[in-house]
Amino acid sequence: MPNERVTSAKPLVEELKSEALLRPKTLDEFVGQLELKGNLAVFIEAAKQRGDALDHVIFYGPPGLGKTTLAHIVANEMDVPIKHTSGPAFQNSAELLGVLSHVERNQVVFIDEVHRLPRVLEEHLYQAMDDLRCELIVDKGPNARHYTLNLEPFTLVGATTRVGMITAPMRDRFGVVFRLDFYEPEDLKNIVTRSAGLLEIGVSEDGAAEIARRARGTPRIANRLLKRIRDFAQVDGKSTIDRGMADYALGRLKVDDRGLDEMDRRILTYIVEKFGGGPVGIGSLAVAVSEEAETIEDVYEPFLIQAGFLKRTPRGRVTTPLALSHLGLTLDSGQDQTRLL
Ligand SMILES: Nc1ncnc2c1ncn2[C@@H]1O[C@H](COP(=O)(O)OP(=O)(O)OP(=O)(O)O)[C@@H](O)[C@H]1O
Ligand SMILES: [Mg+2]
Repeated sequence: MPNERVTSAKPLVEELKSEALLRPKTLDEFVGQLELKGNLAVFIEAAKQRGDALDHVIFYGPPGLGKTTLAHIVANEMDVPIKHTSGPAFQNSAELLGVLSHVERNQVVFIDEVHRLPRVLEEHLYQAMDDLRCELIVDKGPNARHYTLNLEPFTLVGATTRVGMITAPMRDRFGVVFRLDFYEPEDLKNIVTRSAGLLEIGVSEDGAAEIARRARGTPRIANRLLKRIRDFAQVDGKSTIDRGMADYALGRLKVDDRGLDEMDRRILTYIVEKFGGGPVGIGSLAVAVSEEAETIEDVYEPFLIQAGFLKRTPRGRVTTPLALSHLGLTLDSGQDQTRLL
């Protein structure tokens, strides 16, 4: 048994190492998102010139687009330390105060999944963000004592896939709000080429383009596909991933010509076959495909909507004619979807 553990732990360590290797450390290394990058560079430069902390920043958008990466880049470019935490990690105000009381001048406090910060703690965070102080009350009733903790200036960097779940007062306290969009194939191709160089994987121009085209607009997926295709190439004795190799391996990985994976196709197929193309509520869909509603909303839906396979209507999700033609399906007669689109 112990041996098994060692062998199964190894790939994970390898994955984590390559993850750290691939993560861009500077704005220059960060590919694409030019408008965001340009503005962020200005805000960082201006804050540095003044010797101030950067204003509080929030990055939002679907998973794998670079929010965590950017939080670390902000700290690196500002030349300050970063405290990396996440919303659900805070159970009570003492834990939040513990983090805030240790901040160094101008440092970054990164709260990932900031929408999952317990609501009762938001008040404390507001005070810290606005006035650089935290009030704490020790003991109860007549014995209650009131302390004020003065904090060093700091930058709160929040990241979320669910900007809609952040309360308005919280959102208003971020001076800079950045939305990350899905990447263009050209940018993803550059990411694949950069990652291949760092991992010492040979990939041809058309091989990189093929991976980029089928990576759902997402750098994390592009990197993951590159690593898995490398496995197929290696076992096949090929030193370079060309278009043919990429196509073959992606077929084995069940990633189709448009980059949809098995779950994407399952979602669309269920909506067509079980719900007559929709509209269907997220709860029913989740049960039908045996996946958490939140995962469908965060991970699958944004790309399916962006790529034109799915629409959100007030009454639920509806497949588009593009989804039907892509899957080679037809609706039963009498089901006229166009009225819903
Ligand atoms: N613009 C980019 N250029 C190069 N690589 C990138 C870029 N954006 C992301 N990556 C790569 O994709 C991986 C995923 O990015 P990251 O972890 O920052 O995403 P995220 O938005 O925080 O996702 P999640 O919502 O799941 O936390 C990173 O490890 C990094 O290697
Ligand atoms: Mg992240």
